[in-house]
Amino acid sequence: MLLSKKLKILVTNQKGGVGKSSLSANLAAYFAIEKDQQTVLVDFDRQATSSQWVVHAKPHPKLRAESVSQVIHGGNRLSLFTARSTIRDAASKADVLITDITWSPVIGPDILDVFDLVLIPTSLSELELLSTIGLLRDLRMGLTKAGAPKLVLCPNKVHPFQRKFNAMAAQRFPVPFLLAPPITQSKEFEVHYQKDFIIRAGEPEVQGKFRQFCQAIEQAASFVPNTLSANARPASAPATEAMRVLHERTQNAPANSPVVQPAVEQIPSIIRAKPASF
Ligand SMILES: Nc1ncnc2c1ncn2[C@@H]1O[C@H](COP(=O)(O)OP(=O)(O)OP(=O)(O)O)[C@@H](O)[C@H]1O
Ligand SMILES: [Mg+2]
Repeated sequence: MLLSKKLKILVTNQKGGVGKSSLSANLAAYFAIEKDQQTVLVDFDRQATSSQWVVHAKPHPKLRAESVSQVIHGGNRLSLFTARSTIRDAASKADVLITDITWSPVIGPDILDVFDLVLIPTSLSELELLSTIGLLRDLRMGLTKAGAPKLVLCPNKVHPFQRKFNAMAAQRFPVPFLLAPPITQSKEFEVHYQKDFIIRAGEPEVQGKFRQFCQAIEQAASFVPNTLSANARPASAPATEAMRVLHERTQNAPANSPVVQPAVEQIPSIIRAKPASF
């Protein structure tokens, strides 16, 4: 379907432990193993959690990882320049590039324009959502300008009692986003760490849900932003039932307004319409 051009994905959040590395490594494995795409994971984290997963897990010929810790956190033009060229170099040798970065304000939103998609894993606890919203405010310039990457919020470590997304529906988000299918809390992410990947070795139910997540990310790449609305279907790809657009910024909203769009009112009904998606 898509992937006729290179796909560059950033997985980030400033908060620790939200699943950046787990999602990066396993999403990379999906593109390599199931989509037969030459895939590279570029890990900017000093702990190198995601690249270590790829390096030590059962190998796959289309999947490799690079660890490039420390380049990006210099907070100056040189480190931004170096990071960009690292990302572009890696992307030039692959069909799919996935970059794992722990966000920090010194990085600055300019780096975002290297990417097609920005994935932000977040739990659905109110505390973590507020932190994610803070991050979105910081990234707003980079996410709303012309040619900006598409933003996908990725609920992770979700508990069954959170399935109505009430905490999310109660929030106001400063930028439009796509919502990925939720990834439930599961020990599988620890069980397979550095051994194998969810997509290949996960227990069937977890594997199935994770595949659904990966497919939604793949579809997000072919989403046409102007067609986004709560009920709209993208022109270039059929929408998965799993991926919904919850929020749309109107064309004429003042740049500094706390954005509240009509679509946000529809969140509870959208979620209620698909209780079985867990
Ligand atoms: N869906 C999930 N269910 C259960 N545990 C998970 C899930 N996703 C991640 N974890 C676990 O949460 C912990 C943190 O995950 P991970 O290292 O991927 O997060 P991170 O955002 O990259 O953290 P850091 O900021 O330290 O880099 C790990 O122990 C991982 O196994
Ligand atoms: Mg990490």
